[in-house]
Amino acid sequence: MKQGIQTGARTGRRLLGAYRLCALALAAGLWQPAMAADPLQGRKIYQTHCENCHGANGTGQIPGAPDFMRGDTLMRPDIELMRTLKAGRGMMPAYQGMFTETELLDVIAYLRTLRLQPR
Ligand code: HEC
Repeated sequence: MKQGIQTGARTGRRLLGAYRLCALALAAGLWQPAMAADPLQGRKIYQTHCENCHGANGTGQIPGAPDFMRGDTLMRPDIELMRTLKAGRGMMPAYQGMFTETELLDVIAYLRTLRLQPR
């Protein structure tokens, strides 16, 4: 019987630990808005690393570059665009290891603003 009570207590502690972990994960989730992608930060990256090929307004400076002012070129989730940027594509170099995921998401957020700018 004593054995049973001890096991119960241990399970209880373990459950409490799991509960704390969930609370922590939840808190981290709630914290997200503060870490949302920052298009202004992305603009800086774009101007130094992307503009040469994609142009200041995103319409493309070299043959084959997509037009970011057309909505449909970016009609894919951020995570997919980030995968392309990490891997590179055609003439575009791979950016894996050059930028953090946060930086890539910032620059993608900026790309999404180009469509809204006056031509
Ligand atoms: C050397 C020129 C060059 C540079 C620098 C460059 N790109 Fe590109 N990018 C291209 C070309 C060319 C394509 C079209 C590739 C293809 O589809 O063959 C492209 C495609 C893309 C696409 C569309 C990918 C897809 O899946 O269709 C995105 C998004 C993009 N570039 C973002 C960026 C960002 C952000 C940067 C800066 C961090 C950047 N590019 C830097 C040339 C460049």
